[in-house]
Amino acid sequence: MVRNFMAEFWESTLAETVRASERLSGDPARTQDLAAWLGQYAENAPTSSNQGTAKLPFQRWFHFKEAFSPKFVADTLGSLPYTPTHCLDPFGGSGTTSLTCRMLGLQSSSVEVNPFLADLIDAKLTPVSPSTLYAAYEGLISGLEVTAGDEELLAGMPPTLVAPGLNGRYVFPADVYATTRALLRRSNSLPSDQARLIRVLLGSVLVSNSNVVINGKGRRYRRAWQGKEKSACDLIATLDAAVDVAASDLARFAGLRKGRQRVIRGDARTALAGLSKGEADVAIFSPPYPNSFDYTDVYNLELWMLGYLSSSSENRALRHRTLRSHVQMKWMTTPRHAASALLDETLNALRAVRGELWNRNIPEMVGFYFDDLCKIFGQLARILEPGRYVIVAIGDSQYAGVHIDVASILTEALAGMGFRMIEHGAIRSMRNSSQHGGAFALSEHCLVFERI
Ligand SMILES: C[S@@+](CC[C@H](N)C(=O)[O-])C[C@H]1O[C@@H](n2cnc3c(N)ncnc32)[C@H](O)[C@@H]1O
Repeated sequence: MVRNFMAEFWESTLAETVRASERLSGDPARTQDLAAWLGQYAENAPTSSNQGTAKLPFQRWFHFKEAFSPKFVADTLGSLPYTPTHCLDPFGGSGTTSLTCRMLGLQSSSVEVNPFLADLIDAKLTPVSPSTLYAAYEGLISGLEVTAGDEELLAGMPPTLVAPGLNGRYVFPADVYATTRALLRRSNSLPSDQARLIRVLLGSVLVSNSNVVINGKGRRYRRAWQGKEKSACDLIATLDAAVDVAASDLARFAGLRKGRQRVIRGDARTALAGLSKGEADVAIFSPPYPNSFDYTDVYNLELWMLGYLSSSSENRALRHRTLRSHVQMKWMTTPRHAASALLDETLNALRAVRGELWNRNIPEMVGFYFDDLCKIFGQLARILEPGRYVIVAIGDSQYAGVHIDVASILTEALAGMGFRMIEHGAIRSMRNSSQHGGAFALSEHCLVFERI
């Protein structure tokens, strides 16, 4: 019989979330921190999305549209039928899981393949005193000089990154580009925690000082961008504001212990092998959806501008390490892991309409996607003891009228891998999921599995 411990836990009120968290941390000071942190949460927003978190300390440092909310994580942890101590998130993103665990005094391990996002998580988790941040930043700005090297487009960078670009189109005006590179060059000589924090804050103002906006699954030029290009002064003004925000958040939560939050940089399909049996006792995550959203592409400006990539082959290699949820790469064929009759049916239906698909490789990509998820669950089956839970926020997809029923396929495939579905709920954000480019009316689910 399906037990219903956690029924629709994501629908709880903020007051209930805070109350349940008190039980978890057993420390009123922690509960106060959590309440203060979530105080700015817009409660009417869908908890599985980042929509209510725009004003939340730390979360407001970088706009990461694909995040779930800290409330979702706190609600999940607070409604488990046991008291968790160490939470695992194989797809860390902007660090919502680890940050929430830190607020609650729980341990966490988060894996993230994108090095900029891994830095974002680490920066949010690492205390730097506001006075240290201001001193480091003022030192950077006051002596800032742009050199000829800062103006150069580096080998492998997309030619449209900086003016004059290609065919009259470019992402950054020359002075914004050169000033960003100069700030990065100088910040590299700071102690690593400070350099990382400033790099992340610089990353947070790049798009707003460019000629593009992030739109659905990619970028598009702003309307009439030629008339409203940003300057180096705009860049510095927005960075000043970002530093003020970070300093105020760091000051407000200065009393928070650093906690035991581990950020593992790499591909979760292999990196989870580094965790031992029983090390974590719950996993909460939202993987990429099988909808061809390519995270390496969407966060490509930050990766190039902040020195995380230095050649097109590095860009390709990073894409190769991401979950096979998109068709921008030609994926290597690997043996089928996911055993599901519904998956076989879905793949046959996709192959039958191959000619109508916007990319011929979609059927293979969908198969690989479930194989990759099964690989992750194979590791979770090893790490988690029986009775422990995995909570997944995930969305469906659709190609040429063929519905990819992610929840049902995953439930079938996991049944043979030591996981029993405990709960399958619809989450409210579905109709305008950011991972769906805000466009499709497709389902998003909260799936709760028990390790048996
Ligand atoms: C939906 S987002 C996670 C959002 C996160 N829950 C949050 O609140 O910020 C999925 C993340 O998975 C990461 N990712 C993709 N492939 C990965 C892989 N093979 N290993 C680890 N992370 C991966 C992406 O870079 C992206 O940050």
